[in-house]
Amino acid sequence: MVGAKKIRLEPVADELPADFEELRAEARAEGHRFLNRLAEDWAAGAMRFDGRGERLLAAFVDGELAGVGGLTIEPTDPTALRMRRFYVRPAHRRTGVGRQLALALLDNAKGDAKAVTINAQSASFPFWEALGFIRVTRDGLTHAMDLRATSVGSPNGP
Ligand SMILES: CC(C)(COP(=O)(O)OP(=O)(O)OC[C@H]1O[C@@H](n2cnc3c(N)ncnc32)[C@H](O)[C@@H]1OP(=O)(O)O)[C@@H](O)C(=O)NCCC(=O)NCCS
Repeated sequence: MVGAKKIRLEPVADELPADFEELRAEARAEGHRFLNRLAEDWAAGAMRFDGRGERLLAAFVDGELAGVGGLTIEPTDPTALRMRRFYVRPAHRRTGVGRQLALALLDNAKGDAKAVTINAQSASFPFWEALGFIRVTRDGLTHAMDLRATSVGSPNGP
Protein backbone atom coordinates (compact mmCIF):
# COMPACT_ATOMS: atom_id res chain seq x y z
CA MET A 1 0.00 0.00 0.00
CA VAL A 2 1.23 3.51 -0.85
CA GLY A 3 0.98 6.12 1.91
CA ALA A 4 -1.51 6.03 4.74
CA LYS A 5 -4.63 7.80 3.58
CA LYS A 6 -7.62 7.99 5.85
CA ILE A 7 -10.42 6.06 4.25
CA ARG A 8 -13.99 6.49 5.46
CA LEU A 9 -16.64 3.95 4.46
CA GLU A 10 -20.34 4.76 4.38
CA PRO A 11 -23.32 2.60 3.50
CA VAL A 12 -25.31 3.99 0.57
CA ALA A 13 -28.99 3.96 1.40
CA ASP A 14 -31.42 6.50 -0.04
CA GLU A 15 -29.40 8.20 -2.74
CA LEU A 16 -26.17 7.54 -4.60
CA PRO A 17 -23.30 9.74 -3.31
CA ALA A 18 -23.12 13.33 -4.56
CA ASP A 19 -20.05 12.87 -6.77
CA PHE A 20 -21.20 9.54 -8.16
CA GLU A 21 -21.45 11.04 -11.68
CA GLU A 22 -17.70 11.80 -11.67
CA LEU A 23 -16.95 8.24 -10.62
CA ARG A 24 -19.24 6.91 -13.32
CA ALA A 25 -17.63 9.14 -15.98
CA GLU A 26 -14.16 7.91 -15.04
CA ALA A 27 -15.31 4.30 -15.16
CA ARG A 28 -16.93 4.79 -18.54
CA ALA A 29 -13.77 6.44 -19.89
CA GLU A 30 -11.89 3.28 -18.88
CA GLY A 31 -14.45 1.11 -20.66
CA HIS A 32 -16.31 -0.07 -17.52
CA ARG A 33 -20.05 0.09 -17.99
CA PHE A 34 -21.12 -1.46 -14.74
CA LEU A 35 -21.54 1.88 -12.93
CA ASN A 36 -24.04 2.85 -15.63
CA ARG A 37 -25.90 -0.32 -14.69
CA LEU A 38 -25.65 0.55 -11.03
CA ALA A 39 -27.13 4.04 -11.63
CA GLU A 40 -29.88 2.71 -13.91
CA ASP A 41 -30.84 -0.15 -11.59
CA TRP A 42 -30.74 2.18 -8.61
CA ALA A 43 -33.02 4.74 -10.31
CA ALA A 44 -35.43 2.02 -11.40
CA GLY A 45 -35.41 0.40 -7.96
CA ALA A 46 -34.25 -2.87 -9.58
CA MET A 47 -31.13 -3.20 -7.42
CA ARG A 48 -30.98 -1.24 -4.19
CA PHE A 49 -28.69 -3.54 -2.17
CA ASP A 50 -31.38 -3.85 0.49
CA GLY A 51 -32.00 -7.59 0.65
CA ARG A 52 -30.74 -9.88 3.42
CA GLY A 53 -26.98 -9.32 3.75
CA GLU A 54 -26.95 -6.94 0.79
CA ARG A 55 -25.06 -3.68 1.01
CA LEU A 56 -23.55 -0.92 -1.11
CA LEU A 57 -20.61 0.96 0.41
CA ALA A 58 -18.99 4.21 -0.66
CA ALA A 59 -15.37 4.97 0.24
CA PHE A 60 -14.25 8.55 0.83
CA VAL A 61 -10.70 9.88 1.04
CA ASP A 62 -10.37 13.45 2.32
CA GLY A 63 -14.08 13.89 1.70
CA GLU A 64 -13.82 12.83 -1.95
CA LEU A 65 -15.66 9.81 -3.28
CA ALA A 66 -12.87 7.35 -4.05
CA GLY A 67 -14.73 4.14 -4.79
CA VAL A 68 -17.79 1.95 -4.38
CA GLY A 69 -18.47 -1.72 -3.91
CA GLY A 70 -21.51 -3.81 -3.16
CA LEU A 71 -22.89 -7.20 -2.21
CA THR A 72 -26.09 -8.76 -3.48
CA ILE A 73 -27.63 -12.18 -2.99
CA GLU A 74 -25.92 -14.67 -5.35
CA PRO A 75 -28.50 -15.48 -8.05
CA THR A 76 -27.38 -19.13 -8.31
CA ASP A 77 -27.22 -19.77 -4.55
CA PRO A 78 -29.31 -17.85 -2.00
CA THR A 79 -26.94 -18.92 0.81
CA ALA A 80 -24.15 -16.87 -0.80
CA LEU A 81 -23.59 -13.20 -1.56
CA ARG A 82 -21.93 -11.80 -4.68
CA MET A 83 -19.51 -8.88 -4.86
CA ARG A 84 -20.74 -6.37 -7.42
CA ARG A 85 -20.13 -2.91 -8.82
CA PHE A 86 -16.63 -2.66 -7.44
CA TYR A 87 -14.78 0.41 -8.66
CA VAL A 88 -11.93 2.55 -7.30
CA ARG A 89 -11.04 5.77 -9.12
CA PRO A 90 -7.63 5.57 -10.83
CA ALA A 91 -6.16 8.34 -8.64
CA HIS A 92 -6.92 6.29 -5.53
CA ARG A 93 -5.78 2.85 -6.66
CA ARG A 94 -3.18 0.82 -4.83
CA THR A 95 -3.78 2.79 -1.64
CA GLY A 96 -5.97 0.22 0.08
CA VAL A 97 -9.40 1.64 -0.83
CA GLY A 98 -10.53 -1.52 -2.61
CA ARG A 99 -9.19 -3.73 0.15
CA GLN A 100 -11.02 -1.77 2.84
CA LEU A 101 -14.25 -1.85 0.87
CA ALA A 102 -13.94 -5.60 0.31
CA LEU A 103 -12.99 -6.40 3.90
CA ALA A 104 -15.92 -4.38 5.26
CA LEU A 105 -18.28 -6.17 2.87
CA LEU A 106 -16.84 -9.57 3.78
CA ASP A 107 -17.25 -8.75 7.46
CA ASN A 108 -20.83 -7.76 6.75
CA ALA A 109 -21.41 -11.00 4.85
CA LYS A 110 -20.25 -13.30 7.64
CA GLY A 111 -23.53 -13.24 9.53
CA ASP A 112 -25.70 -13.71 6.46
CA ALA A 113 -23.94 -15.99 3.99
CA LYS A 114 -21.85 -19.16 3.76
CA ALA A 115 -19.81 -17.86 0.85
CA VAL A 116 -19.05 -14.80 -1.22
CA THR A 117 -18.70 -15.05 -5.00
CA ILE A 118 -17.57 -12.83 -7.88
CA ASN A 119 -17.67 -12.80 -11.63
CA ALA A 120 -14.49 -10.74 -11.86
CA GLN A 121 -12.83 -9.01 -14.76
CA SER A 122 -9.48 -10.63 -15.47
CA ALA A 123 -7.46 -7.48 -14.74
CA SER A 124 -8.79 -7.54 -11.17
CA PHE A 125 -7.96 -11.21 -10.48
CA PRO A 126 -4.78 -10.32 -8.50
CA PHE A 127 -6.82 -8.01 -6.28
CA TRP A 128 -9.40 -10.65 -5.40
CA GLU A 129 -6.78 -13.35 -4.98
CA ALA A 130 -4.75 -11.10 -2.65
CA LEU A 131 -7.88 -11.01 -0.47
CA GLY A 132 -8.03 -14.79 -0.36
CA PHE A 133 -10.61 -15.52 -3.06
CA ILE A 134 -10.11 -18.83 -4.87
CA ARG A 135 -10.65 -19.34 -8.58
CA VAL A 136 -13.73 -21.33 -9.57
CA THR A 137 -15.32 -22.17 -12.91
CA ARG A 138 -19.04 -22.60 -12.39
CA ASP A 139 -22.27 -20.67 -12.79
CA GLY A 140 -20.51 -17.85 -14.65
CA LEU A 141 -18.33 -17.15 -11.62
CA THR A 142 -14.59 -16.61 -11.53
CA HIS A 143 -13.90 -16.63 -7.77
CA ALA A 144 -15.40 -17.57 -4.43
CA MET A 145 -14.56 -17.45 -0.75
CA ASP A 146 -15.98 -19.97 1.71
CA LEU A 147 -16.71 -17.87 4.79
CA ARG A 148 -16.91 -20.94 7.03
CA ALA A 149 -13.38 -22.03 6.15
CA THR A 150 -11.55 -18.78 5.63
CA SER A 151 -9.90 -16.21 7.80
CA VAL A 152 -11.10 -13.13 5.90
CA GLY A 153 -8.34 -11.03 4.35
CA SER A 154 -5.75 -13.81 4.17
CA PRO A 155 -3.15 -14.33 2.91
CA ASN A 156 -2.00 -10.70 2.57
CA GLY A 157 -2.94 -9.09 5.82
CA PRO A 158 -5.67 -8.33 8.31
C1 LIG B 1 -9.64 -3.84 -8.80
C2 LIG B 1 -9.70 -2.54 -7.97
C3 LIG B 1 -11.10 -2.43 -7.36
C4 LIG B 1 -8.63 -2.62 -6.87
O1 LIG B 1 -8.79 -1.48 -6.05
P1 LIG B 1 -7.54 -0.81 -5.27
O2 LIG B 1 -8.10 0.17 -4.32
O3 LIG B 1 -6.54 -0.31 -6.24
O4 LIG B 1 -6.93 -2.08 -4.51
P2 LIG B 1 -6.01 -2.04 -3.18
O5 LIG B 1 -5.11 -0.84 -3.20
O6 LIG B 1 -6.88 -2.17 -2.00
O7 LIG B 1 -5.15 -3.37 -3.40
C5 LIG B 1 -5.09 -4.41 -2.43
C6 LIG B 1 -4.13 -5.47 -2.94
O8 LIG B 1 -4.69 -6.09 -4.11
C7 LIG B 1 -3.62 -6.41 -5.04
N1 LIG B 1 -3.81 -5.58 -6.24
C8 LIG B 1 -4.66 -4.56 -6.43
N2 LIG B 1 -4.61 -4.09 -7.70
C9 LIG B 1 -3.66 -4.84 -8.32
C10 LIG B 1 -3.13 -4.83 -9.64
N3 LIG B 1 -3.58 -3.97 -10.57
N4 LIG B 1 -2.16 -5.73 -9.95
C11 LIG B 1 -1.72 -6.60 -9.02
N5 LIG B 1 -2.19 -6.67 -7.73
C12 LIG B 1 -3.15 -5.79 -7.41
C13 LIG B 1 -2.33 -6.02 -4.34
O9 LIG B 1 -1.91 -7.16 -3.60
C14 LIG B 1 -2.80 -4.93 -3.39
O10 LIG B 1 -1.96 -4.77 -2.27
P3 LIG B 1 -0.63 -3.85 -2.40
O11 LIG B 1 -1.02 -2.57 -3.08
O12 LIG B 1 -0.23 -3.65 -0.96
O13 LIG B 1 0.35 -4.64 -3.21
C15 LIG B 1 -9.37 -1.30 -8.86
O14 LIG B 1 -8.17 -1.53 -9.54
C16 LIG B 1 -10.44 -0.98 -9.90
O15 LIG B 1 -11.44 -0.31 -9.58
N6 LIG B 1 -10.25 -1.44 -11.15
C17 LIG B 1 -11.16 -1.11 -12.23
C18 LIG B 1 -12.52 -1.74 -12.05
C19 LIG B 1 -12.47 -3.22 -11.77
O16 LIG B 1 -11.71 -3.97 -12.35
N7 LIG B 1 -13.32 -3.62 -10.83
C20 LIG B 1 -13.44 -4.99 -10.43
C21 LIG B 1 -14.44 -5.64 -11.29
S1 LIG B 1 -14.60 -7.38 -10.87
